[in-house]
Amino acid sequence: MIRASFLLLLACVLAGCKSVPPPTPLSELNAQQTHGHAVFQAHCVACHNDRRDAPLNGPSMVGVFKKQYLPSGMPANDERATATIVHGRNMMPAQGNTMDAQDLDDLLAYLHTL
Ligand code: HEC
Repeated sequence: MIRASFLLLLACVLAGCKSVPPPTPLSELNAQQTHGHAVFQAHCVACHNDRRDAPLNGPSMVGVFKKQYLPSGMPANDERATATIVHGRNMMPAQGNTMDAQDLDDLLAYLHTL
């Protein structure tokens, strides 16, 4: 047992812990998450994949809150993600003035299902 969990941990470290559970199917989202998906479609989909673990203009959002760190190495929490969305980051333009607080809330709820 101990040996098995050690191997699992080692595999995780070697693979960069990329194996996260798949996103929740769209048909299983609640109302808030469904609206968050619409916000994502309107503001983020041009640069980020949400259902496929492959980069587009920016990193994929699959598992964004299931991993410990954001692609930049910042802790993966609402505060850091919100700062990126509102203020932008390097090549990512600020999105703060494109959505209201409710949209942002719903968007975060959706990102947590990925
Ligand atoms: C014009 C393209 C573009 C759009 C639109 C865009 N992003 Fe990004 N995003 C990027 C790029 C490029 C990066 C990588 C920034 C870096 O760290 O250099 C990024 C990084 C991120 C990160 C990771 C930040 C980190 O600390 O690693 C998150 C989270 C993110 N974007 C979420 C979103 C969300 C949510 C939206 C929609 C509201 C969005 N982005 C819209 C291009 C975009």
